[in-house]
Amino acid sequence: MRRYYSGPDYRRARSIAELAVMARRRLPHFAWEYLEGGAEDELTLGRNRQGFADIALLPRTLVPCSVTHTQRSLFGRTLPLPIAIGPTGYNAMLYRDADIHLARAATELGLPFTLSTVSTHSMEQIVEAVPEVNLWFQLYCLRAPKVRQDLLQRASAVGCTTLLLTCDAVLLGNREWDKRNFVRPRQLSLRNKFDVLAHPRWMAQTLWPQGLPNLGNLERYLPREQRNLEGAAHFIGSQMDTGFDWDALARLRDRWPQRLVLKGVLHPADAETAIALGLDGLVVSNHGGRQLDGVPASIDCLPAIAAAAKGKLTLLLDSGVRRGTDILKACALGADAVLLGRATLYGVAVGGKAGARHALDLLAQELRLALSLLGTPDLNQLDRSPLCASPSTSFTVS
Ligand code: FNR
Repeated sequence: MRRYYSGPDYRRARSIAELAVMARRRLPHFAWEYLEGGAEDELTLGRNRQGFADIALLPRTLVPCSVTHTQRSLFGRTLPLPIAIGPTGYNAMLYRDADIHLARAATELGLPFTLSTVSTHSMEQIVEAVPEVNLWFQLYCLRAPKVRQDLLQRASAVGCTTLLLTCDAVLLGNREWDKRNFVRPRQLSLRNKFDVLAHPRWMAQTLWPQGLPNLGNLERYLPREQRNLEGAAHFIGSQMDTGFDWDALARLRDRWPQRLVLKGVLHPADAETAIALGLDGLVVSNHGGRQLDGVPASIDCLPAIAAAAKGKLTLLLDSGVRRGTDILKACALGADAVLLGRATLYGVAVGGKAGARHALDLLAQELRLALSLLGTPDLNQLDRSPLCASPSTSFTVS
């Protein structure tokens, strides 16, 4: 059995923020910026955390809270927590076999794991390594119908019943850190090459002996001579269909009879169109602040979308979720569950599967504690009543 270097002791991290500090220390600069960075001035990245911070909680007291209920029914399954791991690409840049580690950590807790189109492991490899995984697959708006159709058939064949179509990234956001760190796609600048040499543990654990793996789902669509990260990055860039519109989504709806979820919705009018097309779910998301800089925090967009869509389809939210109280606030405002992006990536970057599991355990503990302290120990009884705009805002206690 292969042995992994487990990095700094992730078990000492008492919060997602502490895991982030450890991940920053362990990763070379370019990999950390890839994980953490947002687009342009990172206004939206900052708003994602501020949006949660601006919501205050007003607890009720003397409510028995020895037992908390955090289950959620999502797409026909009961989950122990209102959490799924969201899609993130190039994960093996952070830790060898990171996709598999994330899938295992989620599966251990009975949570879904979403595999990105641009994952390093293919969907077939994930299912082989983690047969019991509740696998969701994320698709980009791809140009070539053959590739799109083949990916859908493969997803169906491996038992994936939930498809997330990412609609906020047909053009790549302006990520300046990427431009600084790479002289060409996937070609590190000289400064970054030296920085990699200064991280021998990361090199041994992540690069040795094969170097960075290719993009597992896409490899077969590339000409043989382009089957490397640079070729794959070029291919995916050329594949993004900037003409993809609601009609194209309606055609996809016809071709994918299983659950179809649109990821990257912020406007309530778009939520209404998605309902009219018969979609099964929405992810209220700004892509973790990595796409259009200046858009509001996802949590600030949720109330209007919930008003339009609650009860008509499944509502998910991502971007900035780092605490159990964030999950609580999202659920109180109408989300059925949250997707995790960076939170579990910090964990996997520091300690592989165990690190990702630690991130999930921290959030689960924080959520249970927060529900108890709020006086609403059953998540399904949670509504907006304990929320107020900010500690200084006056409100009426009902
Ligand atoms: C992402 N995200 C993303 N989304 C997607 O649909 N396909 C993808 O391949 C990726 N890749 C990706 C890589 C990395 C390193 C990050 C951080 C994010 C966006 C992701 O699914 C999610 O929307 C955000 O990560 C949510 O924000 P937080 O939780 O990271 O703040």
